Amino acid sequence: MKGDPRVIAVLNDALQAELTAISQYFVHTELCENWKYGKLHKLIRDRAIQEMKHAEKLIGRIIYLEGIPMVNPPLKMTIGKDVPLMVKNDTALEVGAVARYNKGVAVAVKAGDEGTREILEGILKDEEVHLLELEAQQTQLGQMGLENFLSVQV
Ligand SMILES: [Fe+2]
Ligand SMILES: [Fe+2]
Repeated sequence: MKGDPRVIAVLNDALQAELTAISQYFVHTELCENWKYGKLHKLIRDRAIQEMKHAEKLIGRIIYLEGIPMVNPPLKMTIGKDVPLMVKNDTALEVGAVARYNKGVAVAVKAGDEGTREILEGILKDEEVHLLELEAQQTQLGQMGLENFLSVQV
């Protein structure tokens, strides 16, 4: 089915962001693995895999709409060199994702593309959960302090 070019642009923009998120989370999860923060390692790795599933859905939809999936975009990763910076950068990434999918839903609705709207809304819900996790970590870091926070991540 020939898709609206504005919708395909939204899907490709989201795809670029997902590919960036996957790379950022894989670096962060492996840093945590290296430091033996097993709980953080698993949490971030699970999130990376969810972002992969998002990318898969976006690619599938772009192809369905007869667009070209841009799988070779410049990645705008923001790697954190320690846990507080990771949490900070990942929070910013998820804030961006929630805003992007909200805007994307609006574009799909405007274009009368209900199928894309449904896909974007599904992904949006996952991004809201990611953001909630990270905001909770920010709160925990603030309330417990870094040492206590990290002591429960091993
Ligand atoms: Fe995602
Ligand atoms: Fe996410």
